[in-house]
Amino acid sequence: MRSAERDPEALPDALAACGGLLLVQGMGAMADEPDLLLRLSRVFGPEVENYRQTLTPLNMVHETVPEIFVVSNTPPVLRQPPRRPDPPFTADGKLPVQFPHRRGWHTDQSYRRPPPDISLFFAVIPVAKDQGQTLFADGAAAYDALTPELKARVDGLEGIHVSSGAGRTRDAVLANEPPRDLLAHQRPQRQPVVRVHPVTGRQALYLCEFGQMDWLDGPFAGMQSGPDGDGADLLFTLMTHLTRPEFVYVHEWTEGDLIIWDNRCLVHAATWFDAATQTRLMWRTTVSGNPGAAYAGERKSWIADPVPEQGAEGETVHGSA
Ligand SMILES: [Fe+2]
Repeated sequence: MRSAERDPEALPDALAACGGLLLVQGMGAMADEPDLLLRLSRVFGPEVENYRQTLTPLNMVHETVPEIFVVSNTPPVLRQPPRRPDPPFTADGKLPVQFPHRRGWHTDQSYRRPPPDISLFFAVIPVAKDQGQTLFADGAAAYDALTPELKARVDGLEGIHVSSGAGRTRDAVLANEPPRDLLAHQRPQRQPVVRVHPVTGRQALYLCEFGQMDWLDGPFAGMQSGPDGDGADLLFTLMTHLTRPEFVYVHEWTEGDLIIWDNRCLVHAATWFDAATQTRLMWRTTVSGNPGAAYAGERKSWIADPVPEQGAEGETVHGSA
């Protein structure tokens, strides 16, 4: 910890050199000193989100360190895992990772402008192996591997992202649910489909799928909207490509693991675990401050004016890994 603070460029440089995904093992002592996670997060950027200030439901916020978002199936959070994918599994018996068999791929808080740069995710109590994994897909490698025709289609294109709680998911639209009136900080936000990383300069696909795109006006600006439009076809094609197994890393968690990932060039997904028999407790922080030239000088989209009462109109936080 002290060496990370003494040489504050070392870990961010390592993260960039590793393509945006870093695993640090043996951090179990942090479970008794949650402030260490905050200190380490500050090494990665100037702004570590304080979840008490961003309309996050308070039962998901750490009691003493409000910069920690708690992901757990135990009280007071009581967050259930995603659905178990239906068989068949892959021929070699491995975890199916590719969209659309695997659902829930997203990048943290893409419904904000600017979105956060980096997430840190710490396993206080992971579940048994073969359950509760976190999947990561490399958006830069996926962009590089696009056909010239697809590159031409996505360059300059914008995706429309929105919180899953805004009633604009694909499922909500298919069910003809009436759209909710949204406060300013909840409104859909456009994001470049191809982001240019501010540190490495690499281009990366920046997308989510069914639960965190706007299926009323999107998923893409300027294309046919809705689940049956041209935009849906393109998103399906891109998500299938982005989550091809060769771009995906599957992390099996061990107690004390800390994973640091770069939301500017990776997407991720949570997986099922048996919540009836397993306890899972994970801590996450999000770091902002260097979203890239596309966001230069922007006001934060999620800052409501005036800030509404917490809890009543809070963000619904989707799909944390
Ligand atoms: Fe997440």
